[in-house]
Amino acid sequence: STYENILLERHGRVGVITLNRPEALNALNDALMHDVVAAATSLDRDTRIGAIIITGSERAFAAGADIKEMAPQTYMDMYAADWFAGWADLAAVRTPVIAAVAGHALGGGCELAMLCDFILAADTAKFGQPEIKLGVIPGIGGSQRLTRAIGKAKAMEMILTGRTMGAEEAERCGLVARIVPAADLLADALATATAIASRSLPIALLAKEAVNAAFETTLAEGIRFERRLFHSTFATEDQKEGMAAFVEKRTPAFTNR
Ligand code: HXC
Repeated sequence: STYENILLERHGRVGVITLNRPEALNALNDALMHDVVAAATSLDRDTRIGAIIITGSERAFAAGADIKEMAPQTYMDMYAADWFAGWADLAAVRTPVIAAVAGHALGGGCELAMLCDFILAADTAKFGQPEIKLGVIPGIGGSQRLTRAIGKAKAMEMILTGRTMGAEEAERCGLVARIVPAADLLADALATATAIASRSLPIALLAKEAVNAAFETTLAEGIRFERRLFHSTFATEDQKEGMAAFVEKRTPAFTNR
């Protein structure tokens, strides 16, 4: 691949992006951000790809934004470069994105995981927003996404104290979808992503769009939006195929039409 800070592989209809700066526990520097965003947007444009996994190493998903790169920056450097704004292009990816997290997911690492559609956590995963210890605050959406994920009390406590939480607490409070033994993390993430990618891609995109609307609008508007999207699924061949296959007791052959 042409990327220096990540590995990019395709397993059937699943794209796997592995953060690969082991010497810095996958700290998210500017170059790594550009690699992740470029790889994810290229997978998003590839209609053969039905799901994307973002993962790190056994030791660290990512230990945060790169502190050594940020340390000398001034306010005007940050403002002029609109530091971290590039991550918005990852949030805009339409294909389902799974974060498979083992080890440290701290600061920007936790924020990157939350930017994905859901998190599968190894039993070794540790989540936290320790920015306060460095004299800064979360800057890739952590104050917003953590609060929406786990509620005000826990988000405030995490962000004000900088403490980390383990996988069990993270599952209990709704930050992660599921805990998996560390040795099985990638296999489980691949099986999960493959299951998603085996269905109709356009219908998966509608489903993702509907869930995401819950974070952007009122309940009444969200339900109206969902119903319109639901009605629109009946304009697809995949709805005809999916329901016919159920009636005929066979596996559906979706065509993404
Ligand atoms: C740059 C980092 C790094 C980071 C680790 N490293 N985290 N480099 N940025 N965020 C580097 C270390 O300097 C070290 O390099 C190497 O990775 C291994 O790390 P160690 O500390 O030796 O490992 P260990 O003792 O196992 O401790 C792991 C750790 C610790 C607990 C995760 O590395 C740590 O606390 N890291 C920082 C976590 C953090 O504060 N993250 C939030 C960043 S701020 P050398 O060269 O010494 O071997 C952030 C803000 C986002 O994300 C938005 C607002 C600004």
